[in-house]
Formats: sequence, structure tokens, C-alpha cells
Amino acid sequence: MTTPTGFLPKAIDKIVVPPIKSQGIKTKLVPFIASNIAWRGAGRWIEPFLGSGVVLFNIQPQRAIAADINPHIIAFYQALYNCDFSAEDVRSFLTEEGERLLESGGAYYYEVRKRFNAEHNPLDFLFLNRAGFNGLIRFNRKGEFNVPFCRKPERFRQSYVTKITNQVARVQKIMRGKDWEFVVADWRDVLKSVGPDDFLYLDPPYIGRHTDYFSRWDEDEAEALASVVQSLACGYALSMWKENKYRVNEHLSLWHGVEERTFLHYYHIGSTEDLRNAMVEALLIKRGYAVEPALIPTPERQLSLEFI
Ligand SMILES: C[S@@+](CC[C@H](N)C(=O)[O-])C[C@H]1O[C@@H](n2cnc3c(N)ncnc32)[C@H](O)[C@@H]1O
Repeated sequence: MTTPTGFLPKAIDKIVVPPIKSQGIKTKLVPFIASNIAWRGAGRWIEPFLGSGVVLFNIQPQRAIAADINPHIIAFYQALYNCDFSAEDVRSFLTEEGERLLESGGAYYYEVRKRFNAEHNPLDFLFLNRAGFNGLIRFNRKGEFNVPFCRKPERFRQSYVTKITNQVARVQKIMRGKDWEFVVADWRDVLKSVGPDDFLYLDPPYIGRHTDYFSRWDEDEAEALASVVQSLACGYALSMWKENKYRVNEHLSLWHGVEERTFLHYYHIGSTEDLRNAMVEALLIKRGYAVEPALIPTPERQLSLEFI
């Protein structure tokens, strides 16, 4: 275990919420992740499974590789990083498209979906992600986005558009001056360039879930990831569900020489929030990169985390 001296750990009490939603988004786990990892910050922060980007945008390293096999997530954030559009462009776009959606009673969602599948415009991706059912990101076998409409034609009210606009503005501001590389790649290719000073944050999909068609994630993938990562010289941390009332994740045993930190996460089923809906999430941290429990920083306002 390591005494905190470098870039991480850090206490986070204001969580930056990203404009893109994704399955397995770690928004509520960000303070737990940031406060348990000890990393000097000399190399790059490498995330081969970027998803919504919420972990990267809260850790805010100076140098990073942000990678995902999903080209649309990467294209969206690459465009934001390049300043191809501004937050105000997003506001105008969502306001206009939102009005068309309302006038059409919802049918316009499917026009945008068709247009996105032909042209792959990042703003259309944002629109679909924020108007589709449950913020899902899912594709058919031909690689076409196929999530149905959330059935709320009034979706893009002014307050919702402002919320998304602010999320875009905040992330773009965080990116400014940072040396971040956005990459569409399979994790194997990303890991080929990792050096000893880099730090890897790994958040692979849940085993057995085939929710999108850019990838399949099964036992073989999980085993291959564990084997490759454990042969690297750099530090790493891996997020994984550990157990709920019904099941225990046996894949944790693939990882050796790690410190296990756990976080009890409640998720909503209907309107109740209780132990039936609790999931223990684990963070496995390579030995030497986990903060000593007594030294884990706690945010000043621990009981009132703010989501911005
Ligand atoms: C659990 S999500 C990551 C969630 C992210 N940490 C967040 O908080 O939003 C897993 C991500 O891995 C990506 N992915 C799946 N298979 C992959 C592969 N073979 N190589 C790289 N990325 C992959 C998916 O597209 C998805 O975005």
C-alpha cells in the first residue's frame, strides 16, 4: 500500500456529469475510484473502455489515452476536443431538433436515427443518446443504431437542453490544454503502447451481456484481459461488480496481486431503494497503487455529493 504523494488520490465532491449516457456509467463511483488510487501522475492515464468518459472527466489528468471500440463515442468526444462545435452550437441544434420532435409527436426521432445511420454526425449521436430509451447505446448486426424512442416528444424542453449544453461546456473546458488522444480500438491494441509510468483504468463490459454489436464480451475476453494486464509493468485499477443478494462474480479470482476495495451501490427498481437492489462494486487495484485505508481522502461534504 502506498502513502498518497502524487496526482491521485483526490477527494471529489462535485461530480462532473458527461453529456453522453452509457450502460454501466460510473458516475456515482467516481469519488470512490479517485480516492482509492495512488498514482504519481508521471505517465498517461489510459482508459481502454471509455464509455461515457465520466471517470476521465473527473480525474482530469494532463495526459491521457481515451479509447473505446465504439467509434461514435470517440467521434463525439474527438469533435468536442477539436472544438468542431461549441456548447452554444449544441444548444441551437437540440432546440431546433427538439421542436421538430415535438411537432412530429415523436416520429422525428426515427428520421434522425436514419440520418445518423447514414451520416454518423456526432450531434445526431448526442440527440439519439438523450432521446432514446433509457440512454441505451445499442447497434444491430449491421452496425446501425437501433434504440427505440423514449416516447416523450416533449423531451427537449428548455431546461433539459440547458442541462446538456452545460454538460458539454464543462467537458470542453476540462479538455482545454490537455494532451488527450482519442482512439477507436480494441483494448488489445491500446495496451500495446502502455509504459511503466502510465496508469490503466479498466471498466470492461459485464460478462454475458451482448447489448451492442461493436463487441462481444465473454469469458475468453475477460481471461485474456486479465492475462495481458497482469503482465504489464504499469499500475492499474479494474472496476467489476462483486456480488448482490443473488449472485457472486467468480471472475474476480482471475486477478492476483491486487487490493480489493468495495462500494455498496444501490440501484432503483421502481420507486424503492433498498437492500434488495444493492450491488457491491469492487475496485481491484494493483498492489503498490492502492491508498492505505486510513489515508483515503474524504470530501468535505461527503453526505451531499453534487452532480454538475
Ligand atoms: C462498462 S462500459 C464503460 C463505462 C465507463 N467507465 C463509464 O463510466 O461510462 C464498457 C465500454 O467498453 C467498450 N468496449 C466493449 N468491448 C470493447 C473492446 N473489445 N475494446 C475496447 N472497448 C470495448 C464498450 O463500447 C463500452 O463503452
